[in-house]
Amino acid sequence: MEVLSVGVDPTRLGPSYAATGLIFSLLLGVWSAQALEMFVGKIPFLEAVNGSTVLLPCTYASCIGIENLYFNWQYNENGTMQKVCESLIESEESVPHVTIYRERVEFVGKNHHNNVSILLWNITFDDAGQYTCFGRNPKEKGRNHSAIFHLIVVDEVRVVDKTLTIIIASAVGGAIGFLMAFMLLKNLTIFILSKLEEKNKECLVTSSGIDNTDNGLSGSKADSKPTPKKK
Ligand SMILES: *[C@@H]1O[C@H](CO)[C@@H](O)[C@H](O)[C@H]1NC(C)=O
Ligand SMILES: *[C@@H]1O[C@H](CO)[C@@H](O)[C@H](O)[C@H]1NC(C)=O
Ligand SMILES: *[C@@H]1O[C@H](CO)[C@@H](O)[C@H](O)[C@H]1NC(C)=O
Ligand SMILES: *[C@@H]1O[C@H](CO)[C@@H](O)[C@H](O)[C@H]1NC(C)=O
Ligand SMILES: *[C@@H]1O[C@H](CO)[C@@H](O)[C@H](O)[C@H]1NC(C)=O
Repeated sequence: MEVLSVGVDPTRLGPSYAATGLIFSLLLGVWSAQALEMFVGKIPFLEAVNGSTVLLPCTYASCIGIENLYFNWQYNENGTMQKVCESLIESEESVPHVTIYRERVEFVGKNHHNNVSILLWNITFDDAGQYTCFGRNPKEKGRNHSAIFHLIVVDEVRVVDKTLTIIIASAVGGAIGFLMAFMLLKNLTIFILSKLEEKNKECLVTSSGIDNTDNGLSGSKADSKPTPKKK
């Protein structure tokens, strides 16, 4: 997909081509769906309380199917990747035997519906950090695929939890909102400009009316002015 979509980078083309480019990329996206993909869900992070048990979600998808898919979970320990668990999945139906390297870890996905999620029991603050769900399908000549999940460990459910959700929601909503606001602002500007134009026309009418009265006044002044000159 990367190689193919280089030609349709919407930012390089004019804005009128952006929509076409997007549709094209989407079509390519459907095409490229044959490659293996790892998913950690729509929300790739979790904030959990110290002592609780959490699910680190991960599923895989591959249109060409899998055969001896190698997968593992890795934990980023101060920059070095530590294996949490690993396995070879023979087929999409098989329940793999998973080797576990980290304490309090349980493989609960059981490859059921391509689920390779793990459970982390009784989490501590040391469990916080970045977990990578990694997969390599020999059918794809050993291309690497991965997805990252963040675990945040807190003392108790804080208000920050909500704030973080709000920040993310507003980031997504903000982009849409910005577009809407932009359109509204544009329309409002056009509206105000047209109103101002109307006002200007009115002003012109009014000022011409003033001109008339001015003329009338100046006319009367002109009438009165010659009187002192006659003196
Ligand atoms: C975390 O939770 C465990 C079990 O509830 C507790 O023993 C420990 O003191 C807690 N740690 C902190 C730093 O609160
Ligand atoms: C990672 O850093 C933490 C805190 O700085 C330390 O306690 C821990 O031992 C380190 N782990 C490794 C594997 O270096
Ligand atoms: C998690 O903690 C509970 C209660 O403290 C304990 O019974 C259980 O064995 C622990 N599980 C693991 C996997 O350590
Ligand atoms: C994966 O399996 C776990 C444990 O059975 C389950 O909680 C989770 O919802 C599953 N995820 C998906 C995407 O099916
Ligand atoms: C895939 O990852 C492995 C390490 O897990 C590395 O040795 C290999 O070079 C990578 N392959 C590609 C194509 O990036």
